[in-house]
Amino acid sequence: MTATSVTASRSGARVERLPLARFTTLGVGGEAEVWFVGNHEQLAEALEAPYRVLGGGSNLVVADEGVPERVIRLTGPLAEADLTPDPDLSDAETVVTGWVGGGVPLPGLIRKLQKLGLSNLEGTVGIPAQVGGAVWMNAGTRYGEMFGGLHTLEIVTPGGTRQVTPDELDWGYRRSGLSRGHVVSRVRLKLRRSAPEEVRARMDFADQARKGQPKMKTPGCAFKNPGGVPAGRLIDEAGLKGTRIGGALIAPEHGNFIVNLGGASSRDVHALLDLIRERVGVPLELEYELWPEQG
Ligand code: FAD
Ligand code: EPU
Repeated sequence: MTATSVTASRSGARVERLPLARFTTLGVGGEAEVWFVGNHEQLAEALEAPYRVLGGGSNLVVADEGVPERVIRLTGPLAEADLTPDPDLSDAETVVTGWVGGGVPLPGLIRKLQKLGLSNLEGTVGIPAQVGGAVWMNAGTRYGEMFGGLHTLEIVTPGGTRQVTPDELDWGYRRSGLSRGHVVSRVRLKLRRSAPEEVRARMDFADQARKGQPKMKTPGCAFKNPGGVPAGRLIDEAGLKGTRIGGALIAPEHGNFIVNLGGASSRDVHALLDLIRERVGVPLELEYELWPEQG
């Protein structure tokens, strides 16, 4: 590993070379220059050279060699949530919140919304994302998805900052319609007032669906469900559960999860993904994001 060097950028962002394995739920990934940006000025500076945005690292398979681009991590005010109802846009039934930073961890946000009796996002319980990453791919479950609770998105690119509403985007199952390079810096949520205990009951119900998911280091489901057919079932029927390559394993609990047994390399994970594609007779679209992209 290269010696760690911490510097401050022109606008005061902390810049540090770090192993990305530390930031991914799979626990795999080589080094990159990580920019910790806490405000719009720092974000604008970070976008002056090729970049990637890192959220909760819960959908990523990062190469053992790392990535050459800057890796942006939203911190400070860009990782804080103002859930105060906007008086002009909220009423007896609906609440439109203040700004919620793209770097806010989703699980904590969901817990807070439950306590406040604010509904629409509780179906996303158990997704270990940050708000920006969950918006980027419209993370969800069959009980609800991120776009079910969005009012406005603030998008930053090297060209500047703009606000968009969900109806301006072509979003759908695991898709936001945003383009690569769009940074979700903040969002405003659109929520429905509900009794906290009712929100809690819906959260618990949605959480039940996770009972069969493995508890080890993983980036979640490897493939999207093709045409609504569970990819996990297809992988299971192909007899692949429990297959191990190096330190990576197709979870015995659920065919669509690859887990790190400890010491897995990105090559091990790629080899399992190739094996699944080869053995399952249906074309599968990857849900994981590979850094760098392949082919
Ligand atoms: P990352 O993994 O860090 O990044 C993923 C992509 O989002 C990258 O392209 C990245 O550049 C982009 N991104 C991140 N932050 C931003 C930002 N601020 N602006 C723009 N782009 C950004 N997913 C589901 O949909 N449903 C589930 O039920 C589910 N369950 C999971 C369970 C487990 C145990 C795990 C580990 C994962 C699960 N996932 C699930 C997958 C994952 O949580 C989602 O894909 C999530 O949206 C990834 O968000 P993240 O913040 O971790 O993003
Ligand atoms: N199944 C099998 N064998 C397996 C796995 C699943 O036969 O090895 C069967 C189950 O018995 C069930 C069906 O497939 O009949 C669906 O399985 P499950 O209920 O586990 O749901 P899923 O479709 O595999 C989806 C999401 C998950 C989300 C859950 C709960 C996708 C790709 N996956 O899983 O999201 O948590 O529903 O809502 O849409 C993710 O996207 O990363 C993710 C974890």
